[in-house]
Formats: sequence, structure tokens, C-alpha cells
Amino acid sequence: MARKLAAGNWKMNGLKASLTEATALAEMFPAPSVDILLCPPFTLVGAMADALSGSKVAVGGQDCHTNSSGAHTGDISAEMLVDAGCGYVILGHSERRADHGETDALISAKTVAAIEAGLVAVVCVGETLEQREAGETLAVIRSQLAGSLPDSVDLAKLVIAYEPVWAIGTGKIPTLEQIAEVHDDMRATLSDRFGGGAADIPLLYGGSVKPTNADEIFATSNVDGALVGGASLKAADFSGIVTALENA
Ligand code: 13P
Repeated sequence: MARKLAAGNWKMNGLKASLTEATALAEMFPAPSVDILLCPPFTLVGAMADALSGSKVAVGGQDCHTNSSGAHTGDISAEMLVDAGCGYVILGHSERRADHGETDALISAKTVAAIEAGLVAVVCVGETLEQREAGETLAVIRSQLAGSLPDSVDLAKLVIAYEPVWAIGTGKIPTLEQIAEVHDDMRATLSDRFGGGAADIPLLYGGSVKPTNADEIFATSNVDGALVGGASLKAADFSGIVTALENA
């Protein structure tokens, strides 16, 4: 059985004052039965890790470079995230694929770097609306998984997030049948490639997850948690999603 994970992606949101949302969340869950993760922008990573140290809420980055150091202006390495107190990093989010032209091959190299540095890599995949309407969803997800994951990977350090691009920030979610179809197919694809250990890889759903729809999403086949954007910014909202996962 895969561990359950409620992960928040703050994207390019949050100033120092927002750290109180993170500490409020930690206070609500002193002994959670699921893993909880917040991924703030880089400017807040260190301060959030310090504020949450000793709590049950982990901190992660939203990207990292393939190299551990060097002449790469504006980039952050996996080692730097570990040094700042991170345990995780999101890789290959559709916004990075779109905004920064990240390819499957680059994401695979980042995954290697992140896991070598000791981070858990949360690797994101997801189809566009055009691809779904063309009936290409499963082929797109299989291809992204094939290209974005290295052959040799410590499965205990891997999380996959299925985020349909058209469901991100739109308030639209796939039907539960559509989510189950993709998650079941991802589990089978990962098992074919990596063997029995793939049963333990947490498979997150992401895209317009709210406290109001979390229960039914978490009851869906092969959904082990969520990667949450907007509803992770406020402890009052994200706590409802964490509770739904604890009760799933
Ligand atoms: P929303 O929850 O705001 O739709 O964002 C989802 C997402 O992209 C998380 O990485």
C-alpha cells in the first residue's frame, strides 16, 4: 500500500506573512495519519522549514536544477533544498513544462539529481484539453511517465502527480471514472516497468481539489492523495483536504 500524501503547491504565491498559514496547519495536525507537505516559493523555503521544524508538516521546493552547484543564474539545486530543510521537490509541473519549455528528458535528469540529494521527487504528468478531446490521454500520460522517470530510481523516493492541465485552477475536474482510468493505468504502467514495488508509489491527483470534492476524489481507485494549488494557501481550506485524506 502506498503512503497517503496531502501536498500543497503554493506556486508563485506567498510572502513572509503567509508563514502563519503553515504554522496554523501544523498546529491543527500534531499527529496526522497521512503525510503532509507544503511547497512554498523559493524565497520562503528556508523560513518555512525553520518555522515547521519539529512539526509533522514537511517542506518542499517547486523545482531544482540537474547540477548540484555551478554557473546557473537564478537556479536552485537539490542540495540547496536539502540544506534549507526540504524533504521533497515538485518536478515537471505543467506550468514549468509550459513556461520554461521543460522536456521529459530534463525532468528525468532532475529526478535523478533530486533523489541522489536525498529528496522525494514529486513528478507531475497530465494531458491538455486538446489531447483529452482527441482521445490521447492515456498515451500522453504513458509517454510522459516513460520519459520523465529514469530507469534506475529508488521507488521509496518517488511520488507521481496526475494533473490534467485543463483542471488546474479552473474549478473543473475530470469525472471520477476518468480519474480512476488514468490512475489505474499509471499503476499498471509503473508496475510493468518497475515491478511489484510500484504498488507503493503514492499516486496523487491534482487540479481544482477543494475540501468539498476531496472525499470523492480520495475514494477513487489508486488515488493516494492530492497535489493542491489554490486550496493549499489557507490552513482553513487545506486542513479540510488533509482531514478528508485521513478519513479516506
Ligand atoms: P489548483 O488546485 O489551484 O487547481 O492547482 C493544482 C496544481 O497545479 C497543483 O500543482
